[in-house]
Amino acid sequence: MTQVIRWGILGTGKIAKAFATALQITPDAQLVAVASRNSDSATAFAGEFGAERAHGSYQALADDAGVDVIYIATPHPMHHENALMCLNGGKAVLVEKSFTMNRRQAEDIIALARSKQLFVMEAMWTRFIPAMVEAKRIIDSGEIGVPANVSADFGFTAQFGPEHRVYNPALGGGALLDLGIYPLSMASFFLGPVTAVQAQAEIGATGVDLQTVFTLKHQQGGVSSCACSLRSRTPTELTISGSKGFVRLHDRFHNTSRLSVTLVDGQQRSERTIELPLSGNGYTHEAQEVGRCLRAGLIESPVMPHHETLAIMGTLDQIRQQIGLVYSADAAN
Ligand SMILES: NC(=O)c1ccc[n+]([C@@H]2O[C@H](COP(=O)([O-])OP(=O)(O)OC[C@H]3O[C@@H](n4cnc5c(N)ncnc54)[C@H](OP(=O)(O)O)[C@@H]3O)[C@@H](O)[C@H]2O)c1
Repeated sequence: MTQVIRWGILGTGKIAKAFATALQITPDAQLVAVASRNSDSATAFAGEFGAERAHGSYQALADDAGVDVIYIATPHPMHHENALMCLNGGKAVLVEKSFTMNRRQAEDIIALARSKQLFVMEAMWTRFIPAMVEAKRIIDSGEIGVPANVSADFGFTAQFGPEHRVYNPALGGGALLDLGIYPLSMASFFLGPVTAVQAQAEIGATGVDLQTVFTLKHQQGGVSSCACSLRSRTPTELTISGSKGFVRLHDRFHNTSRLSVTLVDGQQRSERTIELPLSGNGYTHEAQEVGRCLRAGLIESPVMPHHETLAIMGTLDQIRQQIGLVYSADAAN
């Protein structure tokens, strides 16, 4: 792998632009190519972000020999097809969340990546932001005791029409896959594998979940309570608690720069707050992890490993089964 990681971006929507912006401040990374279903969009994007090549089809990017890794920035139902195409073109891939629509699709991608010895990672960028890295270090140090309880929520008022991807079932709409995946991923990050889940949801007019709440039981002990919403601005905080106290990632935890550590010993209580700013818009941290892994010859990140992506997709399947949320991708199961 060359020192400079040559990136391609597949799709030219909102998150593609945010990621391209982040690549501009990512050391030893260069955006070399972009692909869109539409040549004009690809050309405009390449011009805005300084990419050398603009492809008018996703296949052309998958076949571009001058690209090391492709960031897949399409709506979730397209991730499966797009990732398989890029892997078949010999490219490493970073796939937006939710990684796929269901566990079966995730298994296909990871099996292909492994058989080709190509890197693949779910773009759960929150794991890589400095405040989360510090939270993980504190938890692992034992400062709050053994972590046994996680609570996390992610909600905002989504004022979009029914055709928008967050409400449109054909584009993988719903709070769970868009937002609920963050609390779930964090619960898994801090308390490990999930053995049981119970969920409730409110389904909206387009047939996708407007709000979902779920509780989790973890294999190594511990429980989590998680919530997501497209119709309420929730605190969007993450708290990890143990016998000696708790670590809180403040509003909004998914891209926060602020955490606090509270220790309680009888009547004594101490609290410290730590500020750890994001670099730029925060997406550079996951891009740097991809670069580190590629240079080290890894096919998965130890921070967002394949087995955890698969387990998370499996838990999302279970939640969806309980709340009656079905997508067309499930028909192939
Ligand atoms: N990590 C984060 O913070 C974050 C934030 C927002 C979204 N996301 C994730 O990123 C993905 C994309 O979200 P977004 O908000 O960027 O969406 P978006 O603005 O709608 O952009 C999606 C892009 O995908 C391409 N696309 C391919 N097939 C499409 C179809 N049938 N309908 C619409 N677009 C299609 C389009 O690019 P072309 O027209 O160029 O082909 C489009 O611009 C989702 O999986 C979402 O969960 C992550």
